[in-house]
Amino acid sequence: MIILALETSCDETSAAVVRDGIVLSNVVSSQTRLHAEYGGVVPELAAREHLKNFLPVARQALADANTSVAALDAVAATQGPGLPTALLVGVKAAQAIAFTLQRPFIGIHHHEAHLYSPWITGDPPAADFARFEPNLSLIVSGGHTLLVHVESELKHHVLGSTIDDAAGECFDKVGKMLGLPYPAGPEIDRLARDARRPYDRFPRPLIHEPNDDFSFSGLKTSVRYFLRDHPQVLEDRAELCNVCAGVQNAIVEVLRAKTFRAAERLGLRCVTVSGGVACNSRLRQVFTSEHPRGWTVRFAENRFCTDNAAMIGILAEQKLKHGISPSPLDAEIQPGWTLA
Ligand code: KG4
Ligand code: ZN
Repeated sequence: MIILALETSCDETSAAVVRDGIVLSNVVSSQTRLHAEYGGVVPELAAREHLKNFLPVARQALADANTSVAALDAVAATQGPGLPTALLVGVKAAQAIAFTLQRPFIGIHHHEAHLYSPWITGDPPAADFARFEPNLSLIVSGGHTLLVHVESELKHHVLGSTIDDAAGECFDKVGKMLGLPYPAGPEIDRLARDARRPYDRFPRPLIHEPNDDFSFSGLKTSVRYFLRDHPQVLEDRAELCNVCAGVQNAIVEVLRAKTFRAAERLGLRCVTVSGGVACNSRLRQVFTSEHPRGWTVRFAENRFCTDNAAMIGILAEQKLKHGISPSPLDAEIQPGWTLA
């Protein structure tokens, strides 16, 4: 079965072709630089860019996969959540292709796709569902921080999420205060590596609370007060690195403590991590080196952490394989779709 998948929920235009669990192509055109000027994603600009980029990206994905539109068995797209005008581009394009070819259209929940992206592995990247284990999945991105119990392939339920800012949002907002370009997560990650004495005074919000929720806005506020009282930090690279490492350590420690505690409570021995923040080197190091003996920790590859259509295609294929009905050709976008 050959599936073309489209992802246009935020600021990446992506198209992928998957066949029998293998990612044949995955083309991503990022708008990050365009939005950097505004310090965040501008929805109207994002939609216009998707319209401009959709055809070249889809053509490239088909060419890389050495296939053509006529060969497709199904078409999938991210149906939500996301920016309404951005989602419309991918969903309507996918539905039009499906309509023309008389093939099924599958609308995919963006976070559900992130949940299964750690199972895309190998060379060529193939979905490793043969090794699937029930797991505790952490999705950490610019817009979301979610802890999900994944009981089986396609069966999951959300345990907790952030009650204010997402982890990536915290990286980005702190970065803005530090004068770093948007999105600041990767830059904080880089600067933190040079820290000689990471600041350890930043709070670890909700770390001891007996729930699976997160909160990062207090951490952001504490950095704001710290910078107000120590403005010289901004003029000194060594100090800047110490602040970056301090903030990063606080975020990573909260994510680790709450994720591992939830996994232990549920008797799970497998933890998976995905979303843009899962590219963070400290997060990867701590999660993979500090877990209890006998546990498996699986990170999505970096290219499948940030938004990509491959994960949309792999999940769409799983759904069809498990007999889940395709979506109507006139299914609406679901900008506020929450994962259950
Ligand atoms: O999943 P993603 O591409 O987009 C969505 O938000 O859906 O995630 C982007 C987020 C941004 O907040 C960015 O700063 C963060 O991921 N990010 C990182 C790193 N790479 C990307 N945060 C920390 N360390 C990184 N290395
Ligand atoms: Zn995402």
